[in-house]
Amino acid sequence: MDELQHVYLRVVGPFLVAGVLAVLTAGLFALFSPVLAWTALAFDRVSFAYGREDEAVLRGISFTVPPGGRLAIVGPSGAGKTTVMQLALRFYDPAAGTIRLDGKTLSQYALRDLRATLGLVSREAYIFNATLRANLLLARPAATDDELIAALEQARLRDCLDSLPNGLDSWLGEHGERLSAGERQRLAIARVLLQDAPVLLLDEPTANLDTLTEGEVLDALEVAMWGRTTVMATHRLCRMERMHEILVLDGGQIVERGTHHQLLAEQGLYRRLFDVQSGMLAPGPRRGGAPWMIPHCSPAYSLP
Ligand SMILES: Nc1ncnc2c1ncn2[C@@H]1O[C@H](COP(=O)(O)OP(=O)(O)O)[C@@H](O)[C@H]1O
Ligand SMILES: [Mg+2]
Repeated sequence: MDELQHVYLRVVGPFLVAGVLAVLTAGLFALFSPVLAWTALAFDRVSFAYGREDEAVLRGISFTVPPGGRLAIVGPSGAGKTTVMQLALRFYDPAAGTIRLDGKTLSQYALRDLRATLGLVSREAYIFNATLRANLLLARPAATDDELIAALEQARLRDCLDSLPNGLDSWLGEHGERLSAGERQRLAIARVLLQDAPVLLLDEPTANLDTLTEGEVLDALEVAMWGRTTVMATHRLCRMERMHEILVLDGGQIVERGTHHQLLAEQGLYRRLFDVQSGMLAPGPRRGGAPWMIPHCSPAYSLP
């Protein structure tokens, strides 16, 4: 009996091991293959001036956002946050330094391909006086209705779609006036989802929203950021603990960098901006919440 078992193991054993290895390899590949499609964005000592060179708007900016990484750029108005986005999109070229996407300099890409790779959401979504469908198809002209609806769902616009009189055929009005400000921003998010850009450039996407609406838009962004490389410029320090690195920009220079918790501990500009927003400098006691949460930031929903 023992001998039979021994022979059986010797014959079948290698096949079993090979089978298990094959399944493991296939599983690992399936798990990590989306990562391979992600894209890295890197700035290397980038400087830029809109006009005279001695009036540089960005000076020596370096950062690397690895594939799937999340970088926040914070800092006061005029610090140069939007300019970083403009350079990544090649609306301008740097005066010095290089910008690379997946290791290639931006000039190695056709402009069209570059801009298809970068999905931009800014403060104000541009909505055409056309139907919801037409406004979405801009991002992917060949999309089916099912794909449009899936993107709306991911951008948390399903209820909005259901409330419109003619669904996808509903007319959105001048500047999308039939939508609320938060819905317009989520429509912009639905567009980048349809565009399926591997890199997201978010330029103060919640700047014009109240706190509640901001939370809804951040929830939709959370879905969009998953599996994408993200750069988010913001002066609202909400959910910063979810970003992998934060650059604090002031007068075109990086004055601090680190994670949310590191920067809070540094007692520098980030800490000051945070305290002002937390209302610590405002009259009245600060109530409730974990110490890293800003009371007037709406909490994140839990990812499944
Ligand atoms: N098109 C432009 N022409 C000239 N100066 C500009 C232009 N856009 C921005 N600036 C200037 O560049 C600086 C950085 O602006 P910006 O990148 O928009 O900052 P932020 O987004 O952090 O508020 C500011 O001093 C701003 O006035
Ligand atoms: Mg800006």
